Amino acid sequence: MSNQKIQQGAEAIIYLKNNEIIKDRIKKSYRISILDEKLRKSRTKSEAKIINKLQNIIPVPKIIKSDEKQEIVMEYINGEKLSENLEQLEYKQICKQIANNITKIHNQNIIHGDLTTSNMILKDNKIYFIDFGLAFHSQKIEDKAVDLHLLQQALEAKHFTIWQECWKIILDDYRADKYKEILQRIKAIESRGRYKDKY
Ligand SMILES: Nc1ncnc2c1ncn2[C@@H]1O[C@H](COP(=O)(O)OP(=O)(O)O)[C@@H](O)[C@H]1O
Ligand SMILES: [Mg+2]
Repeated sequence: MSNQKIQQGAEAIIYLKNNEIIKDRIKKSYRISILDEKLRKSRTKSEAKIINKLQNIIPVPKIIKSDEKQEIVMEYINGEKLSENLEQLEYKQICKQIANNITKIHNQNIIHGDLTTSNMILKDNKIYFIDFGLAFHSQKIEDKAVDLHLLQQALEAKHFTIWQECWKIILDDYRADKYKEILQRIKAIESRGRYKDKY
């Protein structure tokens, strides 16, 4: 079966082949090629490593292969993309699961780095997180708070009719270690943002 291109993003092209996803990082012509290659390799390696580490912690695709070719082959999660369907789904229940997943990854000191509903898929009543291309390790309150703050902004932009309800559920259910400090820090980040908008 031939490769079916299902998405061309800024960083990667995604192909579907034999019910597997191939995530192929694209060459960036504006980068010096030797550095570009290094960067693509290290992002690919780090993404596959983090997904593997989370395998038994939250729902993530299984890594089938990741090699030196700046390419990851992984399980195809054939479900509903939350970015397209959240409003039509049981979104309150889903937000609880989102909060639960984030709690678990933050307790591993993993920051997702791009928590948007485009990177979440509903399948068999489970919320899979994908796209750990920007993920990294950190124990910092600030990094965990920023991770959540970016999710809030993504919800507000993409799901503006329900985002407040969703955000409240996520904050109520998020229970990572030191969550009180993390929630405090989110408020501080929000007020920094407002200050910036004003002046
Ligand atoms: N394992 C997967 N199962 C199903 N769809 C996937 C999978 N990985 C990626 N996709 C689809 O491809 C899109 C882009 O992949 P992603 O890993 O998010 O790359 P990018 O860094 O370009 O956002 C996702 O939003 C999703 O629709
Ligand atoms: Mg993505």
